[in-house]
Parts: sequence; C-alpha cells; structure tokens
Amino acid sequence: MRHLSKVGKPSAKLGAGKNRLGELDCQGRVVLPGLIDAHTHPAFVHPRLVDFEKRIAGASYEEIAAAGGGIRSSVAAVRDASRKELAGRVLTAFQAMLLQGTTTVEAKSGYGLTLEDEIKSLQAIQDAARHWPGTAVSTLLAAHVVPAEFAGKEDRYVDLVCREIIPLAAKKKLASFVDVFCERGAFSMEQSKRIFDAARVHGFGLRAHVCQFTPSNLSAMLAYRPASLDHMDCVASEDITALASHQTVATLLPGANYFLGHRDYPDVRRFIDAGVAVALATDYNPGTSPTPSMPFMISLACTHMKMVPAEAIAACTMNAACALDLQQSKGSIEPGKDADLAIFDVKDYRELGYWFAWNRCAGVVVGGAVASEVVGAEET
Ligand code: NIG
Ligand code: FE
Repeated sequence: MRHLSKVGKPSAKLGAGKNRLGELDCQGRVVLPGLIDAHTHPAFVHPRLVDFEKRIAGASYEEIAAAGGGIRSSVAAVRDASRKELAGRVLTAFQAMLLQGTTTVEAKSGYGLTLEDEIKSLQAIQDAARHWPGTAVSTLLAAHVVPAEFAGKEDRYVDLVCREIIPLAAKKKLASFVDVFCERGAFSMEQSKRIFDAARVHGFGLRAHVCQFTPSNLSAMLAYRPASLDHMDCVASEDITALASHQTVATLLPGANYFLGHRDYPDVRRFIDAGVAVALATDYNPGTSPTPSMPFMISLACTHMKMVPAEAIAACTMNAACALDLQQSKGSIEPGKDADLAIFDVKDYRELGYWFAWNRCAGVVVGGAVASEVVGAEET
C-alpha cells in the first residue's frame, strides 16, 4: 500500500521529457477537472470550541455572536499571530484541501479587522500560496464584522475599510476581490454599497455574503455586477429572477447549514430552474464550517439539496471557476485550459456524492504536474 506523498512543490511534470507527452494510467478511476473551492476563510488561528458547545446546548449562531462569541472571538488570536504563524495555518488548510481534490481555492482575510492585521492576513495567504502547488485567489474581507473597539460607531469602521484598508490592499496588490458580510449584526445594505463603491474604484472584483440568516433586497447589489453572491439561504423569488439575468453566480455553502445544525438547506432547485449558475464551496472557517472537503459538499448537495451528482460536480468545477472569473483557464478539461485534474479511486462519478467522510481522492495534477502522488498509478 502506497501513501500520498507529502504535499509540496510539484514533484513531476507530465511530459517533462522533450517532445514527449507524459501518461498517467488512471484506468478504472474517475478523472475530473481539479475541484475549485470558491469560498474559504483560512486565515484564523483557533477552532471555536466554546461556540461549538454553546450551539450543542441550543444557542443559535446569531445569539452566540451577540453574546461576544462568533467572528469577533477569533480576532484577538489573529492580531497576536505573526504573519509566519498565520501563513502556516493557511498552508495546512490548503494542503488538506489538495488531498481531497481541490486545486484552486479562494481565500479571504477577515479575522484581523485593523489595517495592519487585514494586510497581514492577506500577506499570509500569499505566503501560503507560494508554497502550495494549486492556485489561490485572495479576497479582502475587512468588512466581515465591526470589531469590538468600533461598537456604537460602525460607520467609522466602514470609513476605515473604504479609505484605508481597501486602498492599501490595492496598492500592495494583495487581493483580487473584496467581500462584505451583508447581514443583521454585520453590515447593512447601505454600508455594503459603500464598501462596493470603494472596492470598485480600486479595481477589485466584488462578492458578498448575503441572505444567510435574513433576506436582503439583492437588486441593489446586482447593480454592481458581483462575480458571486454567497450563502443565499433566504432569497426572494423576484431576486432569483433578477439574478438569472446577470452573470453573477450563486455560491451555496451547505457545510455551514450542516455544522450549524440547520434543518433547512438553500433551495437550489429554485436557482437552477430560473437559470442561475450555482457553485458549491466549503466556506472553510472556524465558526460555521470547519471542513476542507469539497467531496463532502457534493455529498451534502446530493443528499440534502437534491442536486443530482452531475449538477453538484459542475457546481464544484465549471460554475465555481465562473464564480472566481477563472472560466478561461479553469473548471473543465479542454485544450487551452490549465491541466488541473483530480483523480478519484471510484469507478463511477456518482460515487463522489455517495461515499461521505471517506476521502476517495487518489491524487491531483496541477498545471500538468503531479502535485500529490497518484496512489496506484504509474507514470509512463
Ligand atoms: O461564511 N457569515 C460570515 N462568515 C462566515 C462565518 C465566519 C465565522 O463564524 O468565523 C460564514 O459562514
Ligand atoms: Fe463565508
């Protein structure tokens, strides 16, 4: 029995020999485009076990946050951490993702919430990305929640985000996107629009957490043409119709519903029937979804959201590429695109949603190079 090699720099380039195309014998397996996790929050230090136990005892995510837990309780440790320590945490998460077939990941800041600590978080993501064979797309999420020191002067924090954090992240070229958590207890639609305005001026792509716990009117956000709107648990029918006439992807995050113990999951059929492109992502984070596993998202989507396996796989590949504006180079296996592949030790693609909590990924190829040894396959 051979084991996956430690993830690190690509070990072998397929076809590295001159005029020779390398071959990897994947007979009897399923080969997919590398999975794309289009929504993660890896720049944190500790698991949130107090919140976890409070929820088991019956408290809701919003109640715990209002009582001082939630996102704010992850902030002090990130502020105390060095850039190097944070980069190590991010890389550990990226490695765990790669071992389950993820070759492209979107990674957000959002637990620093000062100019210095948001920049440090983005730098840590970039540092980790340099040591990871896959592709990382960085997102500035300084507007994750208003930090405790700005209580009662929330708009002053929005000023800081718009006037200092967004401009510096742009100047240092540390992120591709700006995200905002538009939700009761986080940022209002008016504040979110201010953040989108500033982000747009500085050339960032846009995305938002929205309609996770409470409905928001999405038309104001759609006017900004965001690449993706994420969570989308409670969206009005007219907003789904509006969404269908835009390029914006709806990225659904069933790991959060699972981990928060919700009975309901996003009603994906309404989106698909209306013609909205749907992506799936892990939402990897310490509060609502501490999992690196995209195959588990496929399982949740099939079992709890009634997506058929082919829909769920498209949501983790091509549609997820669109959610990151990477559709020209990622998301499908075709000439001209990056040769990012995930190889699964199953005979039928439907098995990806069938087995759960069992990693069937046998290895990955990134940019034509074997990035984690493909168990049981000989390269010729
Ligand atoms: O996507 N909703 C906002 N952000 C995360 C939760 C982050 C946290 O609780 O630490 C989410 O679920
Ligand atoms: Fe999130």
